[in-house]
Amino acid sequence: MMKRNDYMKDFSLYIHIPFCEKKCYYCDFTSFKKDSTDIDRYMSNLDKEILMYEEILADYKLSTIFIGGGTPSSITSIYIKKILERIYRVFNIEELGEVTIEANPGTLNRQKIKDYKDAGINRVSLGLQSLNDNILRAIGRMHTSKDFLESFYLLREEGFHNINVDLMLGLPGQSLVDLKNTLYRIIDLDVEHISLYSLIIEDGTLIKNWYDNGLIDLPNEDLERLMYHESVELLRQNNYKHYEISNFAKEGYECKHNLRYWKIEPYLGVGLNSHSNLFNKRFWNQSKLINYNESIESNKLAVEGEEIIDKSMEIAEYCIMGLRLKSGIIKSEYLNRFGEDIDKRYRKIIKKHVHNNLIKEDYNSIVLTNKGLDLSNQVEVDFIP
Ligand SMILES: C[S@@+](CC[C@H](N)C(=O)[O-])C[C@H]1O[C@@H](n2cnc3c(N)ncnc32)[C@H](O)[C@@H]1O
Ligand code: SF4
Repeated sequence: MMKRNDYMKDFSLYIHIPFCEKKCYYCDFTSFKKDSTDIDRYMSNLDKEILMYEEILADYKLSTIFIGGGTPSSITSIYIKKILERIYRVFNIEELGEVTIEANPGTLNRQKIKDYKDAGINRVSLGLQSLNDNILRAIGRMHTSKDFLESFYLLREEGFHNINVDLMLGLPGQSLVDLKNTLYRIIDLDVEHISLYSLIIEDGTLIKNWYDNGLIDLPNEDLERLMYHESVELLRQNNYKHYEISNFAKEGYECKHNLRYWKIEPYLGVGLNSHSNLFNKRFWNQSKLINYNESIESNKLAVEGEEIIDKSMEIAEYCIMGLRLKSGIIKSEYLNRFGEDIDKRYRKIIKKHVHNNLIKEDYNSIVLTNKGLDLSNQVEVDFIP
């Protein structure tokens, strides 16, 4: 419902649910094995935190919601319904473009899915990673490929027609054939959206420890890059638009929430260790559960730190995010947003990377080349002032 007027700025909302069935071996997201007492306390604090933003965001209207984690589908759907009801009462809403929930195969059932639908959720992101059960076991996933198929068909039966599947490449024991088999089967299911991430070996994870001690075999860098480029081509041939480095969508199914994030539009994150970008500031919440809970319970926002985003930083972020998009940096959008031509700050850098074939340029856009997709870090650092 609209409370004020049409001139309000839009914002997106990210809600973090840190609970999982167990920790996967590669994961360093803010997530941990669930405990029912923690869940109740956390969800009531989340509700309180959202209420605290009612006045602060009175002049904004909410455009997209993303419930991520952790594994939001690992807690009872009553919590999800309640939190969404609170959001619908607290924030100005004219038209909600997209409401996504992340779900793990094996944690869904028909009633949960019906509850999600009743609560206004219209997009589900299923974390699959691979359809090879040996690989799933090797990376510590709780579910099998069969669990995934059951969850997927249940979602379809209950009327979900905007489903993302998360996949990973560069996994222990994964071959190009394995990856392609997974992709063929996912394409056959006609999913609307696919995220394909290269495994990042994060400090502090079990996989990192095993890798450092020579206990697991990972595809080498050349094979990993081959996997990426062959996947991009396979998905392109099957009508999936490659619209961001790691994201592919059927026409019209690009993730609206993430697009707003990549375009550096305002967003609020609530919950443990969530990040926000609002009022020319970037701020982030407490990362320890006890600190988050105690802040909210003493009626204070759980913000742990903040950073002012000055114009040159905003421009750099806009360019770096823009380069991740296949549409690239759009020069006319840049001019409209920042009131200056992109050449003013970046002519030399653009020239350098066009010369070494990492970016290509036409009259209105600057886009990473195929070589640039593999070496994007080298381009990005040059955009930082
Ligand atoms: C927020 S996470 C978790 C969503 C959900 N809990 C799950 O695991 O299915 C979203 C996705 O990030 C990807 N991811 C997590 N850790 C990663 C890592 N170390 N390297 C690359 N991708 C990773 C996985 O594909 C995962 O599905
Ligand atoms: S990958 Fe997903 S399910 Fe696994 S620990 Fe991380 S957030 Fe939890």
